[in-house]
Amino acid sequence: MTEIPGGHHSGFLQSNRADKWWIEPLWTGLGFLAFVVYTTWAMFQGDHYWWSAGQGGFGGYLSPFYSPLIFIKQGVAGAAPMDHAWFGSWPGWWPKLIPATPAILILAGPLSFRMTCYYYRKFYYRAYFMSPPACAVEGISQKKYKGETLLLVFQNLHRYTLYIALGFVAILSYDGILSLFRNGEFGIGVGSLILIINPILLAGYVFGCHAFRHITGGNQDCFTCPNGKTSVRYKMWKGVSRLNARHMFWAWISMIWVAFADIYIRMVSSGKWIDYSTWGY
Ligand code: FES
Repeated sequence: MTEIPGGHHSGFLQSNRADKWWIEPLWTGLGFLAFVVYTTWAMFQGDHYWWSAGQGGFGGYLSPFYSPLIFIKQGVAGAAPMDHAWFGSWPGWWPKLIPATPAILILAGPLSFRMTCYYYRKFYYRAYFMSPPACAVEGISQKKYKGETLLLVFQNLHRYTLYIALGFVAILSYDGILSLFRNGEFGIGVGSLILIINPILLAGYVFGCHAFRHITGGNQDCFTCPNGKTSVRYKMWKGVSRLNARHMFWAWISMIWVAFADIYIRMVSSGKWIDYSTWGY
């Protein structure tokens, strides 16, 4: 084995590191794979994404995987009432080969944000592409490091997908408020708590985004000049930086929670779990 300048042995997965460097790429790779498998399955179901005891009236639980509802297909178990659809009932021109499920219309939005996130890029380049699998560990050999070139320049779209994510924070916050009502009556259930926590965790992730940090603190010549430290932008940048320091935590907790919210509503809607609540029905 030959030593590579910079301190490690040459050869696939070779390293001088004595710690368990492989644990992080392993759990992130498996964890994200589990999320993708579940999300894909849930998206294709097209049913049991909504729950509200009784009929009509304001309020109910809507799975975040299905929000916003662009179109609603009628006659499906656990579907939301038609007045929740932005554009009414499912269009007749929809191709038969593609499942008629509301989630299929919207999931590309949040997915485009997560897949281009700087943190996600770091972990999936490591876990799936082994390029490299960890610091000071040799991965797939690259004769010359090229960075994110060629097709990977699309990753630069992250700064624009941020605006999609901000829209989802607003929409899912509205769903949280919606969950505090059942047939127009105010109350709170376990599902309400889950759907209120969901946009809070998502906000922790989105507002700690590197692109958002640039919006708040970028293009500033001097923060420490007179009035710099008292400016609103400086204070916002400090807050964003605090979230940004724990971006990995917010990325994972918000991702796990959104899947859990879908599972909870799916279970309650299909009658497998009981939603304990102040409404008592
Ligand atoms: S860098 Fe992770 S969400 Fe923007």
